[in-house]
Amino acid sequence: MLRFPEKFYFGSASSATQSEGSFEGDGKGKDIWDQWFESEPEKFYGEVGPNKTTAMYKNYKEDIKLLKQTGHNSFRTSISWARLFPKGYGDVNEEAVKYYKDYFQRLKENDIEPFVNLFHFDMPMELQKIGGWENRKVVDYYREYAKTCFELFGDIVKRWFTFNEPIVHVECGYLNQYHYPMKVDAKLAVQVGYHTALASAYAIKEFKESKIDGKIGIVLNLSPAYPRSNNNEDLKAAEIAESFQNKSFLDPAIKGEFNELLVSLIKKHDLMPEYDREDLEIIKENTVDFLGVNYYQPVRVKAKEHLPNPNAPFLPTYYFDLYDMPGKKMNKYRGWEIYEKGIYDIALNIKNEYDNIEWMITENGMGVQDEDRFKKDGIIEDDYRIDFFKGHLKWLHKGIEEGSNCIGYHIWTPIDCWSWLNAYKNKYGLIELDLETQERTIKKSGYWFKQLSDNKGFEL
Ligand code: BG6
Repeated sequence: MLRFPEKFYFGSASSATQSEGSFEGDGKGKDIWDQWFESEPEKFYGEVGPNKTTAMYKNYKEDIKLLKQTGHNSFRTSISWARLFPKGYGDVNEEAVKYYKDYFQRLKENDIEPFVNLFHFDMPMELQKIGGWENRKVVDYYREYAKTCFELFGDIVKRWFTFNEPIVHVECGYLNQYHYPMKVDAKLAVQVGYHTALASAYAIKEFKESKIDGKIGIVLNLSPAYPRSNNNEDLKAAEIAESFQNKSFLDPAIKGEFNELLVSLIKKHDLMPEYDREDLEIIKENTVDFLGVNYYQPVRVKAKEHLPNPNAPFLPTYYFDLYDMPGKKMNKYRGWEIYEKGIYDIALNIKNEYDNIEWMITENGMGVQDEDRFKKDGIIEDDYRIDFFKGHLKWLHKGIEEGSNCIGYHIWTPIDCWSWLNAYKNKYGLIELDLETQERTIKKSGYWFKQLSDNKGFEL
């Protein structure tokens, strides 16, 4: 039997846009996803938008029962900024206050610790109109929003996150055109990244000044960068990939300063953002209490085969090529690599390089296309997902045994949910969702997860 510490968080994560299921209603303002889907539905898989999802806004009371039945002692979701502040600033929407208070309170009453995240890719549309994270003023609006959340919900919520995967809205919104506003502009990308790191530090400052008890962290998607070989060129490529992919937000969040290698490359390409010296003090003084890590797959890299054209637009891959390692294990139902040991490498890296800060897995999961084909007698028999969890948990356990300060394991996601451009292409849930009837059915992995959580471990 592989046993985890007695006090270990077992649960899952979702986000407001991906679970609440409405554009508007009860005073919610639009965010970029609502607006974008309305104007270009063809960009979204199956032309399905965020209005058609788990509808937890209506069903949360029933869904909390399902969380219980699948062994959750904790659960992460996010607050929709545009639901709380329809314009992103100004008057608070009282309906939203009622909803989130009741939602978080009910989680507590069911012994499910709420972990609440403030921003999961969902910029209020009114603020995007003035540039979103490009605009320094939005940092102030976010700070006000964070402060309001601590005042409103701080007596119930004891675990907070400032952002989910901040590098995603930088890369996808400003470099590779996966998210709105679909720009390709390295200078703006750096400015957006800088404003996000600053906004996170300001939220932490507000949290500390509020004196509510609890902890505040950030959720980062860490993908260890492994080189093709131990040649100097490949090692250098991996070092640069690490600084873009992982250290860009890890370093300011935990060490209070930006990664030196990253800054030197940004300077070299003349991409330095506009900043104030005082901002750097804010970042230095307001680091996280704990860290959330989303781990899905590593990144494998090699030295560049051809020197980039100096006039080509700057992208992180300017300095390395992706390496398609022969024989790597794949999730053939989603197309992502499965490398369980990556979770152990992350655990030891946090221990050795980041002060052994308290941390937890905030997302790990297996997306599967056309999952209906695995249904037997009305239940999805997702043994592949159970194996995926076991493989990662074994390595996580080893990391903990070697002293890494990991306090929990949250999978993505409780109920099959809508996912950005991919909509319902990949299913990750412990619980199946019938989108038309809204019926929920626990999958085999959901029952397994309950055993895992009840026993604080599993039979090898
Ligand atoms: C994570 C995000 O990176 O990946 C989630 O935090 C997202 O919001 C999840 O849904 C799965 O992504 P996909 O594209 O496989 O559906």
